[in-house]
Amino acid sequence: MSRAHRKNEHIYHSLKKRPTRADFKDINFIHNCLPNMAFHQVSLKTDYMGRTYRSPLFINAVTGGSQLAYKVNLALADVARTCNIPMAVGSQMAAIEDSSCTGSFTIVRKKNPRGIIWANLGTYANPEMAARAVKMLNADALQIHMNVPQELIMKGGDRDFRDMSRRINEIVKNIEVPVIAKEVGFGIAREQAEALLEAGVRAIDIGGRGGTNFVAIEGSRSGRYIPESLLEWGIPTAISLIETADAIKDRIGIFASGGMNNALDIARALSLGAQAVGLAAMPLSILVKYGRRAVIKKIYDLENELKLIMMMTGSCSIADLQKAPLVITGYTSEWLERRGINPDNFARRSLA
Ligand SMILES: Cc1cc2nc3c(=O)[nH]c(=O)nc-3n(C[C@H](O)[C@H](O)[C@H](O)COP(=O)(O)O)c2cc1C
Repeated sequence: MSRAHRKNEHIYHSLKKRPTRADFKDINFIHNCLPNMAFHQVSLKTDYMGRTYRSPLFINAVTGGSQLAYKVNLALADVARTCNIPMAVGSQMAAIEDSSCTGSFTIVRKKNPRGIIWANLGTYANPEMAARAVKMLNADALQIHMNVPQELIMKGGDRDFRDMSRRINEIVKNIEVPVIAKEVGFGIAREQAEALLEAGVRAIDIGGRGGTNFVAIEGSRSGRYIPESLLEWGIPTAISLIETADAIKDRIGIFASGGMNNALDIARALSLGAQAVGLAAMPLSILVKYGRRAVIKKIYDLENELKLIMMMTGSCSIADLQKAPLVITGYTSEWLERRGINPDNFARRSLA
């Protein structure tokens, strides 16, 4: 099967409705009845990788390498330009291997000449491929994705992951733009967050369980039976984010993604320590069903709802939101205690 065909199948199969469990339900804000601030003071500005961004939202890696991917990337680039948010392309391996695919990626830079665009490759990439991917888009950063469960389930997928950390470090050492290490929906635990920090990446996108599920996608592509135990594999987005934030402690950027579909979960993720929030399947499915303008409206709606939630917690800024008290209950609290993270630290912190 051609790579282009596989890319199209990923789009089709990702659109199938599945129950999602990003597991933010245990993360509770406390209403602030005395915010002592005005709505116009609420700012969504955020800082990471050495610059300031208008909004914490970004469009995460989705596609490239086919005619359908060209159309999707063209439309998403238009959304990113209109909303002034960063956008990542899907894996550029297709264009590295076959230059006739390049246009489905470069359209993103053509459509958005001054925007923030992130290149994307897997951990199999070497520094030379990484340099080509960045140059192709005049990219501002490079995402390196980790997707072991997907490769294991995919027919003909990789089986050898011995050198992942070293390869990431090789790319970091040889490339001029910041490197973002990202999972694609199975989450990152504190031990691997520490290893990625050691490898020199400038940001970690935890890509947790609860949204797009590549075990399910590869299962439905192949038509094979996939047991429930594998379909539920991964660290939920909320837990992965708390573990990673605890390990990283502000030394590099932290992005939350994986089922980030509503403003309350976005606010919870920012409050737990993310500087940015990535959206992939949600903008893709709105685009396919309702078109580009509906995606733009959705981004603005999410930003407005996020501001309302910030106001109701008394937060003028994302830095404030990260000091707002959070009560972490249930399964998440139990998990954190077993992993040596005290959930009471979130409940007792304060904005004052
Ligand atoms: C159709 C589709 C294709 C994707 N392709 C890539 C890819 O090429 N590279 C990558 O790093 N992530 C890829 N992703 C993963 C997303 O960037 C993101 O990490 C993941 O979907 C979780 O976010 P979500 O729940 O908002 O979809 C893809 C996601 C979708 C839905």
